[in-house]
Amino acid sequence: MGFLAKKIMTVLVTGGAGFIGSHTCVELLNSGYDVVIIDNLVNSSAKAVDRIEQITGKKVAFYEVDVRNRAALDRIFERHAISCAIHFAGLKAVGESVQMPLEYYDNNLFCTVRLCEAMRDHGCKNIIFSSSATVYTGTDPMPLREDSITGGCTNPYGWTKYMSEQILRDMAKADSDWSVLLLRYFNPIGAHPSGLIGEDPRGIPNNLMPYISQVAIGRLPYLNVFGDDYDTPDGTGIRDYIHVCDLASGHVAAIRYMLEHRGESVFNLGTGQGYSVLDIVKSFERVTGVKIPYKIGARRAGDLPVTYASPDKSAAILGWKAKYDLDDMCRDSWNWQKKNPNGYGDRAQDSQE
Ligand code: NAD
Ligand code: WQD
Repeated sequence: MGFLAKKIMTVLVTGGAGFIGSHTCVELLNSGYDVVIIDNLVNSSAKAVDRIEQITGKKVAFYEVDVRNRAALDRIFERHAISCAIHFAGLKAVGESVQMPLEYYDNNLFCTVRLCEAMRDHGCKNIIFSSSATVYTGTDPMPLREDSITGGCTNPYGWTKYMSEQILRDMAKADSDWSVLLLRYFNPIGAHPSGLIGEDPRGIPNNLMPYISQVAIGRLPYLNVFGDDYDTPDGTGIRDYIHVCDLASGHVAAIRYMLEHRGESVFNLGTGQGYSVLDIVKSFERVTGVKIPYKIGARRAGDLPVTYASPDKSAAILGWKAKYDLDDMCRDSWNWQKKNPNGYGDRAQDSQE
């Protein structure tokens, strides 16, 4: 043969039907990777998998399986030549984690441990883990750098991220064949510009952007702004919002780095730019033409006044930078919400709302 066939690499994506996972699958498929998804659909819909295929025109292998099910993991590793895993699967609602700590520790920690055991036993030692800005104490000056102080989490969800990081760090220390990337996401919002995939929270949203979108579509009457007496220019909390498609491209950059390096490294995925709650409301109104009624209420327990990332290390080492701005994020969040007023609309709890 006059040419060498390019080897297509297969990426295992746990939690691939979820918000960030589905967008990352699109980016992976568009970048030429094959994708195997494991998701038990506890917080997502199988329709997301169909939509990933619709957007990319490519097939994915989907297993409706709990990541804690070791026997099922073994079967999947035997069937597919998996080069690396991106581990998104986990429960993520901060308030719920305070009510149900055992379920959160069980799900989030044992997913990580079972997955790594299966990977080790099948000779696949490249993992990217979905960590969170929530692991930072937030007491250091902004912007938060990867070496800013972590710990002191205010809820079990945050501790599961902190503890999973530690488990993965220890694993990489004990076996130098592992390549472990801990990615700390800031505040992902937006949706794929097609409006086919997006964030589909159960019940009343906890996070700002899905709440605003549901006010805009008329499912909720007004936004509660959690405090306007912070020491910020307009008194409302400031966060580093990042378009979910930028987050997705950050994972593709991370894979390239991971496959060329061993050991453990940590990277922020944020824009480095902070916006207040009222900045988001104003941008959303301007871009969509829809008025967002809001009422100023009390501060939410556990909220920090200001958090935003230093994106410098990711830019320097991964060669990755966010490219979408706040208006893009608002436009795409609204496009998804408008086209899918009830999200994917096929979960039991959707019909009870
Ligand atoms: P999501 O809930 O939309 O996606 C998580 C997916 O994991 C869901 O599809 C869910 O069904 C699946 N899942 C949960 N437990 C599972 C299990 N035991 N077995 C198989 N599948 C399981 O959440 P997301 O926003 O896409 O977040 C993805 C990851 O990123 C999570 O680990 C989350 O903690 C982390 N993260 C999210 C944010 C955010 O603001 N969205 C910020 C920082 C970190
Ligand atoms: C953003 C801002 C609120 C809702 C959470 C998790 C964190 C990470 C990302 C996973 C804050 C204000 C919100 C509302 C409001 N997830 N707000 N009214 O709290 O920065 O981070 O999601 O790892 O762990 O804690 O995001 O979207 O909830 O809040 O005024 O109805 O909007 O006070 O200033 P947060 P958020």
